[in-house]
Amino acid sequence: MKRVFLETYGCQMNVADSELMAGVLERAGMELVPRPDEADAVILNTCAIREHAELRVLGRLGEFAHLKMKNPALVVGVAGCMAQHLRKKLLDTKRVLDLVVGPDGYRDLPNLLKSAAGAPVAEIRLDRDETYGDLEPKRVAGVRAWVTVQRGCDKFCTYCVVPYTRGRERSIPLADLVRQVEHAAARGFCEIVFLGQTVNSWKHDTNDFADLLRAANGVAGVKRIRFTSPHPSDMTDRVIAAMAECEKVMPHVHLPLQSGSDRVLDAMNRTYDMATFRDVVAKLRARVPKMALSTDVIVGFPGETEEEFEMTSAYLKEARFDSAFLFKYSARPDTKAFKWPETVTEDEKGRRLTRLIDEQMAISAEINDALLGAEVEVLVENVSHRDGTQLYGKSAEFKTVVFTDDGTQPGELARVKVVGTTPVTLLGESLKKPRQVPLVTIG
Ligand code: SAH
Ligand code: SF4
Ligand code: F3S
Repeated sequence: MKRVFLETYGCQMNVADSELMAGVLERAGMELVPRPDEADAVILNTCAIREHAELRVLGRLGEFAHLKMKNPALVVGVAGCMAQHLRKKLLDTKRVLDLVVGPDGYRDLPNLLKSAAGAPVAEIRLDRDETYGDLEPKRVAGVRAWVTVQRGCDKFCTYCVVPYTRGRERSIPLADLVRQVEHAAARGFCEIVFLGQTVNSWKHDTNDFADLLRAANGVAGVKRIRFTSPHPSDMTDRVIAAMAECEKVMPHVHLPLQSGSDRVLDAMNRTYDMATFRDVVAKLRARVPKMALSTDVIVGFPGETEEEFEMTSAYLKEARFDSAFLFKYSARPDTKAFKWPETVTEDEKGRRLTRLIDEQMAISAEINDALLGAEVEVLVENVSHRDGTQLYGKSAEFKTVVFTDDGTQPGELARVKVVGTTPVTLLGESLKKPRQVPLVTIG
């Protein structure tokens, strides 16, 4: 058992967990390989948030079944939320599988893989104390370091599987996180992204999320700090003040709305109403200059009426988010809403979704168009994959900016003038002055 192929699905927490697994495997002398046909073991780090996410993974497992026919010694593992969600069912029904490991079982991954080479293994206990706070992840090279500050979720939104797949909320101690941020910065990661399912509910001893932002703001080498996803109910005045006062904390918040109707929000157990949500948005925009906001919305929640859907549409127009992730409700086993009759047909969900997508695209396009001629500061990530003469990176507001290569290196900031837009990208021109070549006179 030497070479492991690891493939990641789902949210940023899973991306961060894969980096954690990569660290654990490498320290055990294992090597990560880029292709499954070179591997002794393949691990899919999976997502269970919507049915579609699980179907994709099942499709992929079908491909690995073929690979296993050619190489019967191949160990096939499923990790992550879907592993936790389906547990033993996966081992029973998917005979191709040798290992099922939930999000709290990664510390012992090398041994689990070795045992799975003998007989199928399931490690699906949720652990109230496991935070992996002491383990160094193997970060994918780039400018951005994902730092998981909290695991699990205690909110129990009635549609959501996460509290069941990731267990109870646990926060990693401040000192461990500051050490991780310092370590990442020392290795050249100049943007830190704090991760948690309700990241702003992070608290440890007497410290809250505002203290964490302020501590990270003081770490040398860090240029930008972001976090995702905050919960509207935990967006306290202290957190907003820290955002306003910490110059490295970027003016972008992904603030999931889910619905514009108080009745639906209540049925979802979101714990805020529209008045509270509006208040948070107003405070963020008042306190943080150039605040950019994005959101998540679910259409077709059980019982969502046409009027309630219209409330969501109307609020998206009122709030004018820079962007939005829009989803059709997907009933998830184990959740409370799973038992509620679905009242919105798939066709109707599709119609509502398309309506919101069209409306939001128009809003995003207008917001981006208004930036034409403006100057933005871009943290350069790399040369564009599509066009080698262009660089790309993110603006402070987390918009992707593509601009002509002016020699700025990844990890450096560039001043760029916006000369074109799409609903999702800004096109720019560098404002860097060409370097003055000194004239040398000879003789
Ligand atoms: N913890 C984050 C969300 C994580 S899941 C938060 O509360 O903000 C990301 C998004 O997926 C959610 O915001 C929600 O919009 C969507 N989602 C979650 N469960 C879903 C379901 N059963 N059907 C459709 N969308 C869902
Ligand atoms: Fe799911 Fe709600 Fe927790 Fe987000 S806050 S992970 S939507 S239960
Ligand atoms: Fe999916 Fe688990 Fe993230 S269900 S969205 S991978 S927390």
